[in-house]
Amino acid sequence: MATNNIHPIFDRLLQREDREQLLKQRSKVLWLTGLSGSGKSTIAQQLERRLYNEGFFAQVLDGDNIRSGINSNLGFSQEDRTENIRRIAEIAKLYLNSGIITINSFISPTIDIRQMAKEIIGHEDFIEVYINAPLEVCEARDVKGLYQKARAGEIKGFTGIDAPYEAPKAPAIEIRTDQLSLEASVDHLFNYLHPIISL
Ligand code: ADX
Repeated sequence: MATNNIHPIFDRLLQREDREQLLKQRSKVLWLTGLSGSGKSTIAQQLERRLYNEGFFAQVLDGDNIRSGINSNLGFSQEDRTENIRRIAEIAKLYLNSGIITINSFISPTIDIRQMAKEIIGHEDFIEVYINAPLEVCEARDVKGLYQKARAGEIKGFTGIDAPYEAPKAPAIEIRTDQLSLEASVDHLFNYLHPIISL
């Protein structure tokens, strides 16, 4: 029968590698963790722009596009934070298999939560980035005015105030945003990432 002669290349499913070839990049999941106000979102956005300018296909996932949409039913209890991160990790994994680089920008406050994300995504594709600024610095910046509210007791369970933040023990890369400029932080990350994502 003619159908027996179909060449295997035509009936196999497209693989991640095929999409990576098309996009001329290796996909990875960059996982930015740090306190509120540490600079995660700003760095994520600037890095996304830098990658775009250099010809890479990257997508930021952060509170703006996740907590307002797919995770709009979740709050900040430990249980909800875990579910928040679980869903984000699953989404990042879909992007990963599409050949796209994701820059995930979430507090992801505990070692267990980040371990879960790493297991969902796969150890070899998960790059943990610690965006580190001391709590005093984040609190002094108080970009969203939330630390003040947390101190006043208007927000309960705020990370760093009355909910835990566990720093990564061995991140792939650490950025001290109280010591480095935004430009230097993005350069540092881009230079680290470039050989990993280049085909
Ligand atoms: S995570 O803990 O589940 O990873 P996520 O990164 O999605 O948190 O959201 C953190 C953002 O939500 C903060 O930057 C802040 O703007 C806002 N937020 C509101 N309530 C809290 C809270 N109790 N703790 C931390 N962040 C909060």
